[in-house]
Amino acid sequence: MPQKIVAANWKMNLNFQEANALISEVTNILKDEKRNNSEVIFAVPFVYIHYLSNFLKNSSFAIGAQNCSEYEKGAYTGEISAQMLASVGAKWVIVGHSERRLYYLETHRMIAEKIQRALQAGLKVIFCCGESLEIRNKNEHIVYVQNQLEGSLSELSAEQIRNLVIAYEPVWAIGTGRNATADQAQEMHALIRIYLKKKFGDEIAQNTSILYGGSVNAQNAQSLFACPDVDGGLVGGASLKAREFAEIVKTYN
Ligand code: 13P
Repeated sequence: MPQKIVAANWKMNLNFQEANALISEVTNILKDEKRNNSEVIFAVPFVYIHYLSNFLKNSSFAIGAQNCSEYEKGAYTGEISAQMLASVGAKWVIVGHSERRLYYLETHRMIAEKIQRALQAGLKVIFCCGESLEIRNKNEHIVYVQNQLEGSLSELSAEQIRNLVIAYEPVWAIGTGRNATADQAQEMHALIRIYLKKKFGDEIAQNTSILYGGSVNAQNAQSLFACPDVDGGLVGGASLKAREFAEIVKTYN
């Protein structure tokens, strides 16, 4: 069985005080929730990782980063390496988010390198894929997502892929209030699982978590999470509201 995961992606939001208040409130609401083969992750801005991972020490919540460098170390002014993230307590890193592909021109190759650096540093990876509206309207979304998978995951070993989860995030659903329908999500998730099976074998395919992201909220979480190939969610806007995010996690439990 894949692990069930609900991950918050705060993106570039919240000052330090707000971040503290939010994480305290969410974890307080969820403190008595029992979790069985499931994980709740907060992917927070770099500068809060050290503090918040200490805050969550000995809890059942994990801290992640939203990006890492494709290089191991060296003269890359302003960059943050995967090893640095691991050394301040991050357990996870999001790689290949559509906002990074679009605004920072991340290529399949760069994303593949980032995944390697992250896994080498002992981080687990949330690898994002997903098509734009233009691609979907041309009915090319399946080939497009397959290319994203092939472009960045094809060199991974079966051992490495055990430390990676996939988040399908259709770009047209991100921050728009227009989530994919359960059928649209299930269709793509099932295809991603078929890709994993072909590439890495049945056991890996059956055990890799595939998350859905794009306008997940407390209202639609139930129908999305009920899909057989949806193993959780990557939540943006709704993760900035304590009660709403906690509701989404509870939906899943
Ligand atoms: P929203 O939940 O705000 O649509 O964002 C989704 C997302 O990009 C998570 O990574």
